[in-house]
Order: sequence, then structure tokens, then C-alpha cells
Amino acid sequence: MLRFHGDAEVGPGLVDLAVNVRQEAPPAWLAGPIAASLSDLARYPDPAEATAAIAARHGRPPSEVLLTSGAAQAFVLLAQAVRPSLPVVVHPQFTEPEAALLTAGHQVTRVELAPEDGFILKKADIPEKADLLVLGNPTNPTSVLHPAVEVAALTRPGRITVVDEAFADTIPGEPESLAARRDLPGLLVIRSLTKTWGLAGLRIGYVLGSAELIDRLREHAPLWSVSTPALAAAIACASPRAVATEREIAMALAGDRAHLVGALRRAGVTVAGRPESSFVLIRVPDGERVRHALRERGFAVRRGETFPGLGADWLRIAVRDTATSDAFVAVLSNVLGG
Ligand SMILES: Cc1ncc(COP(=O)(O)O)c(C=O)c1O
Repeated sequence: MLRFHGDAEVGPGLVDLAVNVRQEAPPAWLAGPIAASLSDLARYPDPAEATAAIAARHGRPPSEVLLTSGAAQAFVLLAQAVRPSLPVVVHPQFTEPEAALLTAGHQVTRVELAPEDGFILKKADIPEKADLLVLGNPTNPTSVLHPAVEVAALTRPGRITVVDEAFADTIPGEPESLAARRDLPGLLVIRSLTKTWGLAGLRIGYVLGSAELIDRLREHAPLWSVSTPALAAAIACASPRAVATEREIAMALAGDRAHLVGALRRAGVTVAGRPESSFVLIRVPDGERVRHALRERGFAVRRGETFPGLGADWLRIAVRDTATSDAFVAVLSNVLGG
């Protein structure tokens, strides 16, 4: 079940609370360059300009950036490029990193963070000998944001530490991001442009790390795997205007999330940890029945049981506008009461 994702929950007529992609159409300054790139499709894509733009956005040289066909491709490249003796994946988290590692023949050791601790990561949880470590920050599906200082403390010579920051841009100013850190040995930061910018269908993400590690990943990348429209999107999303807009979107999201969490708590629903991203994880009794009942009443939510460390009583809910959240919580209360 590692390859099950939220998009499998949605269906005709259902309000999509299962996929953590912002649903608003891309702004004109982003949609424009993507559309304009369509007149240039006869040429093979050249990632140089977009790579330089992303590098500048994170204060790194272009040799420390690899553009990918979504963050998802980065996990596959990683799994192919490394030969760790003790690969460790911290769960619950997005399951593709582990799936890609298993497909490439690695034997993965899981570290499962506990709900009673609010899914907070402690250094002591990580085996000393782990020479590949994969974690998410903020973490899908728990919405927990680990302090940068704690994550940085996990890096060391001889270990590749992969931080999946696909949702980093959902946090205003990204205070806990390691994207600009060039001093941490073996650090790889994976980013996505598909969530905040609503570009899941375009496929664009990137990896940041030392030139040596980035070269190793690049050797496994299919030729021309990032399309010209995706490169146009990367350039637009790296601009100062995009970064400022990202912060505004993240601040509005924080308000919408507080509204959702407040409504859930008032309805007596258990919300996991301290949610910081564009989704919240809840625990309900008889989760499978609740999920089906919500579906019958028009709401698709993300099931929890396909995440190692969670079970069917966990449901992940995307943060949407306050009216949608209110309508959802009213229906959920009804389902839980009935
Ligand atoms: C935590 C996390 N990382 C990475 C991805 C993949 O993102 P992309 O659309 O850029 O491939 C997802 C998608 O759901 C995700 O939840």
C-alpha cells in the first residue's frame, strides 16, 4: 500500500480534502510564461536558465541544483544513485521515498514516530549507523514541522540526510528550511513546486545539495525529463515576486488552518500534533466507517492506514477556505454523532 496516494480518494462530485495541492488557478505571472512556452515545444528543453534561477532563489551555485519531474522523481533518482548499508526512513511520512528505495533493492529500516509524542522527532530515535536517512519537513501526513536545528543535527560525514521539503513553502518565511544550508555534510533537500502553485499536472520539483551528490543523482536522470513548460514554471516561481506571494499564501493558509483546527477541536475531534502545513491529521473512532460516511455525504478525505505508523482511525484533511472547512466539520460532527 506504499503506492496509494490521496488522488485515489477523489471522485466525481466529491469535495477534495484528500489531495494537498492548492486548488486556485496559477496567477497570471506564472500561467503566462507556461502558456508562452507552448510555442517553443519543438526544441529540446534546456534546464540551464531555470537551474540558475532556482539556485539564486536559494543562494547556491547552479551546480548544487537538479531540476526534476516533480519531487517524486527525485526519490527514484536517489534510490538508484546510492548504495547505503543502513537506509532509514522516518515514518509516518510520504511513502514514495520508501517505495522507490524498495524498488531499487534496498532494505529499509523504519523509524516510526509516536502519536503520544505528537510525532516529534528525537535524535535518539535515529540509529547511529544510518548512512541514508529520509525524513519530511514539514511532514506529510502529520503536518508536524521539525526545528531546523534538530534536523541539521542529524547530518554527519558518511551519512546522506534527505529532507523532503515538498511543503516548506506552506510555512511563512520557511524558518525551518535547510534549503540554503551549504555547510551540512551529506544534506539533500527535495522541493516541489506542485503544491502551493497548483502544478501537480505539470510535474516540477528539484533537489539541492553538494555538487558531488547532485552529480550522482543527475547521472540517473532520464534525458530531458523536465519539460519546457515545467522549466518556464520553475523560472517564474523562483522570482522575488513569487517568493513574496508564497509568503502571503502561507500566511492566509495559517488563518484557514487555525479556523479548521478550531472547528475540529470544538467538535471534539482529536487533531494530531501541532499542525503547521496545508493539511491536518485527525483521529476518529471507527475511521473506516467515518471515511465512507463522509464520502457518501460528498467529502473525500485521505485514509491513514497506508502510512506506516498510522491506522484506519487516522484521516488527513486538506486545509481549504473557511466555508468549505465549516461545511466539512458540520458533516463530520454529524457522522461522528450518528
Ligand atoms: C511530502 C511529499 N513529498 C513529495 C511529494 C511529491 O510531489 P511532486 O508533485 O512534486 O512530485 C508529495 C506529493 O504528494 C508529498 O506529499
